[in-house]
Amino acid sequence: QNEGALAFKRIVVTAGPTHEPLDPVRYLANRSSGRQGYAIAEALADLGASVTLVTGPTDLRSPAGVTIIRCETAREMQAAVSRLENLDAAICTAAVADWRPATEAGQKMKKKERNDAPAPLPLVANPDILAEISSSGSSRPTLVVGFAAETENVEDYARAKRLRKGCDWIVANDVSPAANVMGGHENQVILITSDSSEHWPRLTKEDVARRLAMTIADWFSSKTEY
Ligand code: C5P
Repeated sequence: QNEGALAFKRIVVTAGPTHEPLDPVRYLANRSSGRQGYAIAEALADLGASVTLVTGPTDLRSPAGVTIIRCETAREMQAAVSRLENLDAAICTAAVADWRPATEAGQKMKKKERNDAPAPLPLVANPDILAEISSSGSSRPTLVVGFAAETENVEDYARAKRLRKGCDWIVANDVSPAANVMGGHENQVILITSDSSEHWPRLTKEDVARRLAMTIADWFSSKTEY
């Protein structure tokens, strides 16, 4: 019955891991599957939003009704996001690598001798896409939502992260191995806003996505009612 609740809203969703190359055959990455972000993109589109999904490498099928932009590194993801204009909302679910190798070797790095000591691996910081969107001034989307994957003190760390990043809401989840969230099919989240925190039950990632999409639709409609 909520079909069309997000009609005319332009929303970007970032999803998946990023791959940060060391050389032509090696990269640094993480265990994100992209599943939660893809489900959110699809749920928002189901409510009529015009959704662009900017995704790192995953093996998921493209969600129906969504414009998909594929990228590999954090810097490519940042560039793709920054080209989008007039966004009403940004939902940053991507597990962007915090650091990347300082240099990318043009050729495969070779071991010379059998007992070679490993080369040091200098890293440099990647751009923080969520923090940049949150502080983008007059072009800032009305609603910016970040995710916080934590393995302990989930709610406290996530509250602090909301303030540090400057986003409006944070969806916090426990990614400790026991919770089996990273790469799994279910998620248990806390939705943190400036003045509330809502503990949701353990749900499939699709159900978390639908509930988040409805919450976003309700938020937009409460803003325009008065
Ligand atoms: O700092 P941390 O990685 O824990 O923050 C997680 C949130 O920030 C997520 O919403 C993630 O998509 C976003 N993020 C980002 N760019 C980064 C690092 C994180 O957009 N370089």
